[in-house]
Amino acid sequence: MSAMTWTDDLSVGIEVIDAQHMRIVDYINQLHQAHATGEKALLSRVLEELIEYTQSHFGFEESILEEAGYVFLKAHQRVHALFIRKVGQFQARHISGEDIAQELNTILVSWLINHIKREDSDYSATVRKHMGESAKVPPKQGSRLGNALRRFFRG
Ligand SMILES: [Fe+2]
Repeated sequence: MSAMTWTDDLSVGIEVIDAQHMRIVDYINQLHQAHATGEKALLSRVLEELIEYTQSHFGFEESILEEAGYVFLKAHQRVHALFIRKVGQFQARHISGEDIAQELNTILVSWLINHIKREDSDYSATVRKHMGESAKVPPKQGSRLGNALRRFFRG
């Protein structure tokens, strides 16, 4: 089991998306730490948070792809849905008492890296063109993007 480090080659060139991907990396590392403590309750909580955050991120990302008119949106949504299902299966195994942390860690790290470098990088040019300058900065409160953030991420 290994910790994951964010590296610049994971950037899709869209600030708001990069920030969310970094947060997912944080969760992967929290999962790693929670496993190291051996506390099942802590692991359960991090797992729940990771899934909830990833779902919010996927929803947000898909809304941006839709707005930018990205032609492979449907395929991208399918990839997200499959991944959520896969992680859900790990969660079910965890709940039934299995120690899934190691296996899940490996899958999360490789899935995230591959997904960012392939599917996410594929939409980068289209979305950046659509977003213009706003791709380079965090969304401002009250802007369309800021509102979308609030809609997908509770609180
Ligand atoms: Fe994605």
